[in-house]
Amino acid sequence: MKIENAVAVVTGGNRGLGRHFVTQLIDRGAKVYAAARRPETVDVPGAVPLELDLTKPETVTNAALIAADATLLINNAGISTHTPLIDGDFDRIRLEMETNYFGPLGVTRAFAPIIEANGGGAVLNVLSALSWYHPAGYGAYAAAKAASWAMANVAREQLAPKGIHVASLHIGYIDTDMSSYVAPENKTDPAVVAAAALDGIEAGLTEILADEPSRNAKRSLSATPA
Ligand SMILES: NC(=O)c1ccc[n+]([C@@H]2O[C@H](COP(=O)([O-])OP(=O)(O)OC[C@H]3O[C@@H](n4cnc5c(N)ncnc54)[C@H](OP(=O)(O)O)[C@@H]3O)[C@@H](O)[C@H]2O)c1
Repeated sequence: MKIENAVAVVTGGNRGLGRHFVTQLIDRGAKVYAAARRPETVDVPGAVPLELDLTKPETVTNAALIAADATLLINNAGISTHTPLIDGDFDRIRLEMETNYFGPLGVTRAFAPIIEANGGGAVLNVLSALSWYHPAGYGAYAAAKAASWAMANVAREQLAPKGIHVASLHIGYIDTDMSSYVAPENKTDPAVVAAAALDGIEAGLTEILADEPSRNAKRSLSATPA
């Protein structure tokens, strides 16, 4: 789809990668709702702040009522709690699933009829190389991102007849607060990631692999898990 004159909703649009999406979408000629659980933290000129907390379904319903002209949904918001599955805190494992899987699923369900009614468009799910590579220290995150990859594939089949293209973005470390503990040489500039993702949407790609770790993880899928 074309970004120019699209109407985008970006979850987690107040900071990190989401803030880059908001800025670049506006630069490319889109109207942008920057969704955030604290809309007062949205500071990109020209963006429309929109309250949305992935763990509070009533805020998703309200956001969909307000952003009724949407044609592009970017499921960007997420958390990483570094919780292993077998001996990690169960509440944190549930929170990762709520935020990184059920949250984007709920937003997609809320906005799909709107995008369809507006003539079709696209949904981009911001996933990870860890959708395909599952180190124990990131167990809760990797399981949630793997589930979200499956969700994107299911949604693609169900939404294509409604004129909605579904894409997923996979990437290793990005230089944002989430990966503040990672050495700079191992992280990708979020501006570069956002640009690659928007180019991918315009090109109609289904999977956007934004760095070598994500391409490597995808290639390794046919191998026996270590
Ligand atoms: N950073 C990486 O290395 C990396 C790598 C691969 C994929 N990703 C993915 O990229 C996406 C963006 O992450 P980031 O790197 O920009 O992380 P970030 O800098 O930590 O930003 C996370 C964003 O998600 C929002 N958020 C968290 N919980 C939320 C909730 N319950 N409801 C609504 N918004 C919520 C945060 O809002 P608040 O300001 O309110 O906290 C913030 O806007 C995530 O899906 C992440 O999994 C990141």
